[in-house]
Amino acid sequence: MKELQETPPERLMNHNLVERKFDIYINEPFQSGKELTFLKEALDNNWLSTEGEQIQFFEQQLKNYINVEHLTLTNSGTSALHLALITLGIKEGDFVICQSFSFVASANPILYQKAIPVFVDSEEETWNMDPDFLREAIEYCLRKGKKPRAIIMVHTYGIPAKINKIKSICREYEIPLIEDAAEALGSTYFDQPAGSLGDLSILSFNGNKIITSTSGGALIAQNDEIIRMARLVSNQSKDENNPHNHVRLGFNYKMSNICAAVGRAQMHDLDKRVTRKREIFQLYKTLLSDCKEIQFQGEEERSISNRWVTTLTANRKNFNKIITEKLLKYKIESRYLWKPIHLIPYFKEFSFFGDQTCGRLHDCGVALPSGLGLAQSEQERIAELIYQELK
Ligand SMILES: Cc1ncc(COP(=O)(O)O)c(C=O)c1O
Repeated sequence: MKELQETPPERLMNHNLVERKFDIYINEPFQSGKELTFLKEALDNNWLSTEGEQIQFFEQQLKNYINVEHLTLTNSGTSALHLALITLGIKEGDFVICQSFSFVASANPILYQKAIPVFVDSEEETWNMDPDFLREAIEYCLRKGKKPRAIIMVHTYGIPAKINKIKSICREYEIPLIEDAAEALGSTYFDQPAGSLGDLSILSFNGNKIITSTSGGALIAQNDEIIRMARLVSNQSKDENNPHNHVRLGFNYKMSNICAAVGRAQMHDLDKRVTRKREIFQLYKTLLSDCKEIQFQGEEERSISNRWVTTLTANRKNFNKIITEKLLKYKIESRYLWKPIHLIPYFKEFSFFGDQTCGRLHDCGVALPSGLGLAQSEQERIAELIYQELK
């Protein structure tokens, strides 16, 4: 076969393909060392598609780790969440309750389905869905004549939400709970793994997560019917008995075998990753212990977070701006805490229940570099820069 000539554009010829914007990124991917082995296996077997043994291995590893039976891989956490809503039959005009303090992907799929999001504030301890405001939001929907069709709760920054309280409200009103565990793989709540705590749950493996498959996600459900439907819809709803027919509106949401090879490799040292993330958090806590103004995101008793990202707040005006700008001067990436989704322009028209806790977190909080390859000396430097601003 004639080889195609690959001629890179001039600017890429020096192999410095993409310029590094920061010396220290907030969450740089970290390789386990097994990636090449499994990628080679996939290439040797020529499974360069959304079928293949790497997918089967990665799925099985996740099932074992989270201790669930029904799981399917997807090409992103967002598509997994969209599939969750589709399989629950959520449609135009339905109410779906969602935590406001999260990455926007937690709520976007509600709009994909033309459903109506109703946002709920966070409580002060874990910064996740406040059970009291959740109840208010449900009552609001009932007064409007419609029971919410689902509740999307998040373990933001990997910290488990107050799930027992949230679950008991879900049971009382008989509303399915979707657990957005995109950031929380490796966290546990009362010894149960994040990803196994909802009626449906989702994970993300994009490049900044505790394990990455370069991009990807997973949908987990308590019964196989949901997962079978999700597999169908994620494969363009191709008719099993007639490949020329499609049984309903479908999507292209399957994970590729190449991505699964990377995910499989990363799963090998997941427990060590959690330990390392917790060490990073502990070191920041120790280094900043003299700053009485600083408060770290809290874990509820009997919950263990993967501490995906170390997050903190300080009771000082413009703290988020001051710290991120200071670190940027030294080419260190940091971020404001999530902008509450109900304040994002295209979500502003929807209802919100709360006392603006999530708005305060956004205004006075930052997320610090927490990559698995972070050196102690780098953390010391970051802490010193924060000290200089708080003096
Ligand atoms: C809380 C939360 N939900 C959903 C997603 C969506 O995942 P993905 O980026 O894999 O689509 C992410 C991650 O980006 C997230 O942080």
